Amino acid sequence: MASSKTPQETQIPTHIGIIMDGNGRWAQKRGQLRTQGHLEGLKTAREIVRAASDLGIKYLTLYAFSTENWKRAAEEVNFILGLVKQYLIAEFDFFKQYKIKLRHTGDEETLPEDILSEIKTVIAETSNFEGLSVILALNYGGRDEITRAVKRILREGKTESEIDEKLLHSFLDNPDVPDPDLIIRTAGEFRTSNFLIWEAAYAEYVISNTLWPDWTGKDLKDAILEYQQRDRRFGGIKS
Ligand code: IPE
Ligand code: IPE
Ligand code: MG
Repeated sequence: MASSKTPQETQIPTHIGIIMDGNGRWAQKRGQLRTQGHLEGLKTAREIVRAASDLGIKYLTLYAFSTENWKRAAEEVNFILGLVKQYLIAEFDFFKQYKIKLRHTGDEETLPEDILSEIKTVIAETSNFEGLSVILALNYGGRDEITRAVKRILREGKTESEIDEKLLHSFLDNPDVPDPDLIIRTAGEFRTSNFLIWEAAYAEYVISNTLWPDWTGKDLKDAILEYQQRDRRFGGIKS
């Protein structure tokens, strides 16, 4: 049974992306406001960042707010963005202690100024750390990231003969970050919802039925165990 095992240290994924879904349903099940679900979800994010760091994972991308999430009520949007800011302030000492490096992916231009400035502060203060890199996907959409990359390519006057996959990749938000090996989605939905559209071309997907506020470090270990049973071929044939 997967749950009693420990992931093999030799096959720990280098980069894990998590679609942290199910906060609203968690709250609704309890007759609470959706915002309460986000508050609980924040506690889970704390726990999972710690667990990922303890497991020796190098990159963890957390999908916190999508370019489509602006469709929600302003109250909920502001609550989520405010929580992210609070998280960055509250966890700063922990980042320093664990040598965690913060990064961001997503559109900076349409983020509220105070949140962007907090993100930039923490990025600057943790830029020399060599522990886990936490990549905050905030105001992120995979299509938006590719669209912004194409705009920058045009701005730099690149010609058709210069454009290939390597060049396009180099214009993405974090070109030095390796592609995700494993994408986890909580709360049971089988879709990408615009997460890492370019980067996840050969990622393994693990869907967990558990709602994000109920997720634990043990669920992370179980997802890694499931990943370790996959046969990654990248279009080739196993010898
Ligand atoms: C995920 O939880 C958090 C964000 C999208 C910001 P949801 O708020 O989508 O929760 P559900 O899917 O409605 O349960
Ligand atoms: C994906 O969840 C976005 C985040 C987790 C931030 P959504 O709840 O927005 O996705 P859909 O609407 O179910 O596809
Ligand atoms: Mg959702």
